[in-house]
Amino acid sequence: MNNQTMTGIEACVFDAYGTLFDVSSVAHGARDELGEHWLALSDLWRTKQLQYTWLRGLAGHHADFWQVTGDALDYAMTTLDIANAGLRDRLMQLYLGLAAYPEVPDTLQRLKAGGMKLAILSNGTPRMLASAVRNAGLDNLFDAVLSVEEVGVYKPHPSVYQLVADRLQIPPGNICFLSSNSWDAFSAKAFGFRVLWCNRFGQVPERIPAAPDGEITDLSDLPELLKVNVPPPH
Ligand code: LAC
Repeated sequence: MNNQTMTGIEACVFDAYGTLFDVSSVAHGARDELGEHWLALSDLWRTKQLQYTWLRGLAGHHADFWQVTGDALDYAMTTLDIANAGLRDRLMQLYLGLAAYPEVPDTLQRLKAGGMKLAILSNGTPRMLASAVRNAGLDNLFDAVLSVEEVGVYKPHPSVYQLVADRLQIPPGNICFLSSNSWDAFSAKAFGFRVLWCNRFGQVPERIPAAPDGEITDLSDLPELLKVNVPPPH
């Protein structure tokens, strides 16, 4: 996939977990208690969390992302033989304040200064997203923080992506969607957004519809790729 500049983009819409926020920072933050298990727990927790969103979506058994995240943590802790209710509570609290990737605040500020509309579209509940945005110091940057709770089904259901176009009142072809979750990037492209896959983890392309327009390794080049004129600092 070649990187290409994109013109005609009016809004950047970001996935939250894995794209703006580093989900591994949660278990990393409790490595004093988790010890060498922190990464195994982090990976299994995330994998199960996403599986449960897809399974609940297919079966029509929606429960919000706070519950799914807790259920997935219970599965991961039981698998790794970690029985510790206090640690479970601590990890869930850490999930509300996970770290943004280092380039995120500066990139968002540059895009906003150049007149780009910014939004989040995430599986997270409104409370989880508000908390993550606040803790990462990203307040006042977003025109909309959209949760799948408004439609009651998880990504990649098309009604989730439709929510953005409806709320921003911008045609999907004028929206650049960004996700590090490959399946999310591909599904957003299949919906009709212009898409840059932020391939932070060097993964190979998915074999599902549809290939994104381009691929980046982090978000820092976005203003240049979207030809946003960032005013010089005074
Ligand atoms: C989200 C998940 C996919 O933020 O990371 O929607």
